[in-house]
Parts: sequence; C-alpha cells; structure tokens
Amino acid sequence: MENNNKRDSFGTKIGVISAAAGSAIGLGNIYRFPCELGEHGGAAFLLIYLAIVVLLGVPLMLSEFVLGRRSKSNAVGAFQKLAPNTLWPFVGYIGVLCGYLVFSFYSTVSGWTLEYIVKAVTNSFRGKDLATIEQDFVDFHNNGWRNLMWQAIFIFMTGFVVYKGVKDGIEKYAKILMPLLVVILIVLGVRSVTLPGAREGLTFLFKPDFSKITGDVLIGALGQGFFSLSIGMGVLITYGSYIKKNDNLTSTAFSVVFADTFIALLAGIVIFPAAFSFGVKPTAGMGLVFNTIPMLFNQLHSGYFFCIIFFVLLAIAALTSTISLLEVVVAYITEQYQYSRQKATVYACCITMFLGAFASLSLVEGSPFAKDGFTVFGMMDFLSSNILLPLGGLLIVIFVGWRLGKSQFFDEVTNGGTLKSPFKTVIFFIIKYLAPLAIMLVFINGLLS
Ligand code: PHE
Repeated sequence: MENNNKRDSFGTKIGVISAAAGSAIGLGNIYRFPCELGEHGGAAFLLIYLAIVVLLGVPLMLSEFVLGRRSKSNAVGAFQKLAPNTLWPFVGYIGVLCGYLVFSFYSTVSGWTLEYIVKAVTNSFRGKDLATIEQDFVDFHNNGWRNLMWQAIFIFMTGFVVYKGVKDGIEKYAKILMPLLVVILIVLGVRSVTLPGAREGLTFLFKPDFSKITGDVLIGALGQGFFSLSIGMGVLITYGSYIKKNDNLTSTAFSVVFADTFIALLAGIVIFPAAFSFGVKPTAGMGLVFNTIPMLFNQLHSGYFFCIIFFVLLAIAALTSTISLLEVVVAYITEQYQYSRQKATVYACCITMFLGAFASLSLVEGSPFAKDGFTVFGMMDFLSSNILLPLGGLLIVIFVGWRLGKSQFFDEVTNGGTLKSPFKTVIFFIIKYLAPLAIMLVFINGLLS
C-alpha cells in the first residue's frame, strides 16, 4: 500500500489555513446554514449549533489533522498505517463514499451559482418583485438540461484544479478571495439590518424559544456543524497529510473554526432581516437564499456590480469546497491503487457527474427521482450530512482517543515537543470522553424523536 511518489505539501502556513478554511467556507455557510436555521425554528437552532461548534469543532478538526499528518496518507491509508490489520480503515471508506455523495448534490447547488452569475451580469433581477424572482427560480429548477450543464461545468472546473495538484491548484485559489467575501457580506449585512421590518428577522435569529429544541433540531444542528466545518469524512485527514511538520495544527484548527462560524453568522445576519422584510418565509428552503439575495441587491446602491461580485465569490467559495471533496477521493485512488492523478481525477469526476445528475433531476417537477416531497437530492444531503458525517466523526474521535492515545496525540500537536500547546489536555479530554458521548446522545435523541 505504501506509495513512493513524492507527496505534495502546502507551501506556507497561511496557505494551510486558507486551504482548510476554503474547504470549510462554502455553500454550507451561506446557503445551507440559513436553510437549516430557518427550517428548525431560528435562534434555538443557532444556540445548539454554536454549542456544538464550540465544543466539538476544534477537537474534531484537530483529530483529523493529527491522523493525516502522522500517517502522511489519505483517508483510508491513514487508518491502514496507524492501525494495520484492523477494521479501522472502514472509517476511511465511509469518508470516500461520503465524498462522492456530498460532491454529487453539492455540485447541483454550485451550478446554480453559475446560473446566478449569468443572471446578475444580464441584469435580470432589476426591478423585479419577489413573486417574479421566485418564479424564475422555480423555472430554472424545472429546466433539467440547464441544471445538468452548469453542474457539469462546475465539476469540470473542480477537476481542473485538483488535476493540477495541491500546491499550484488549491492554495493559489483559496488565499485571496475569502477575505473579499467577508467584506461583501458585511456590506450586505448592513443593508439588510437597516431595511424596514428587519427587526423581526433579528429576533428570529437571536431570541431563542427553547420549546423549539427537539431531537430533530439537535440532529440538524449536529449535521450542519459537521458539514460546515468539513469534518467527519477525511477531508481534513487528507489536507492534514499535506501540512508540514513544523506547522502548528492547533492554531490552524482554531482559526478555521472561528472563520467558518463567523461567516455563517454573517450569512444569517444578511439573510433573515432581509427575508422578513421582503416577506420570504424562513422555511422557504432552497429559495430562501437564492430569492432573498437578488431582492437585497435591488435595494443596494450599485447593486448591479455588487451582485455580480457576490455570486462570483459564492461560486469560488463553493469551488474551494468541492476541490476538497474531490481531493479526498483522488488522494485515495492515487495512493491506494497507484493511478496517476490525472486518471483518478477524470474517473472520480465522471462518477460524480453520474450520481449528481440524479440529484439535479430530482428537483424537476414531477421527476421520477422524487416521491412525496422526498428527492434524491434531499436524501443524499440527509444521509451524508446528518448520518455519515457524524458517524465518521464519532469513529474518528474514538480512534484518536482510545486507539492512537494521548502520547501520540500530544507528540503530533506539539510537533515532537517543540511547540507549546496549552489546551492540549482539555482538547484530548473532549476527544476521548465528551465528544463521543455528545455525538451519541444527539444521535439517540434524534432516532427516538
Ligand atoms: N464545508 C463545506 C461548506 O460549508 C462543505 C463540505 C462538507 C466540504 C464536507 C467538504 C466536506 O460548504
């Protein structure tokens, strides 16, 4: 199984952070987070989400980094190296499967961002009311071919970057553009909270109604936390394997968790006040973001230009996430089966396009891939985010806490004793006891509710 090819690695510390943050920050923050929050009752969901991210975010992310850097291997190979002749590599296989699943439905939504760039450039939101913008969104969904075309283009773009390899591809694209996204979200946030009726949206977002906390909300928040941070499926094992020995894993994990959560919160502040002001229901699901945002730009000075920039940045944020999804699969294929990077990328993209087509087409009205409101798209999302990611995360912390053990963990996070890592004892305690317990409790609660 050992691969003798020289492994690629990230060039600089800031490159590592931006690649991991690039994976974490994406449609999960700006599209999925508001959807989930809106559907699960608002502030109560936010509270649970934050609790999960604060408690589990850094320990889980760090666990994956440690596994990756220690083994210098892909999601499956890491377990084979660290626990040879056991069933543990199974965790890596779940990750690879999950990579395909998430990439399949994620590329559908990523494709929408391209459609919306075109809409923005051709000024097709200008002067339209909500009903028309909503109808345009529905019409677009029902145009299966157009969806497939954008999805294919997006998968191709992802393949192109991954094909070029880690350093030239991923790092270069992630470094500069994310701060720009933050700036534009802040501009939008200011406009959103100053709209008439914005207050109601802020109340929805920040004033929790504890009676709304059900098992469903808990599972939803857990799944969203894992999805948003890209944890539980080996993305960060794979990226961890490209991190140099003298980089500080703990501070990298803290930075990424902070940036990701900050952007999700910003997205909430952009979407909800505006949605309430325009009359978009928080439970509107897919339309929540894709209808509210164009309406918001219609209210903004120089909205035409800002709107184009926003959708371009959203597409890029999605791209840095799909790159990481594809990288999990490609690293696995190249290292385990000795395929060339190019060949592995082409195969993985073709499989994703095949699976992803079902996701896209299941959203067309009357589609054979949808039944009673359940779509292939929704099922892929639910299965991967709410089941496989938490399951993968659970097995990863159990592995690090109980099998890899404290001394190896400490050795890796302190770079062999050369670095101070003041929180390592607390973090290891969470990894060994609290995280497995918390994930299991949420699971059981969700199954029983
Ligand atoms: N975290 C990414 C986002 O928020 C999505 C993702 C999930 C990426 C799982 C990799 C693994 O958009």
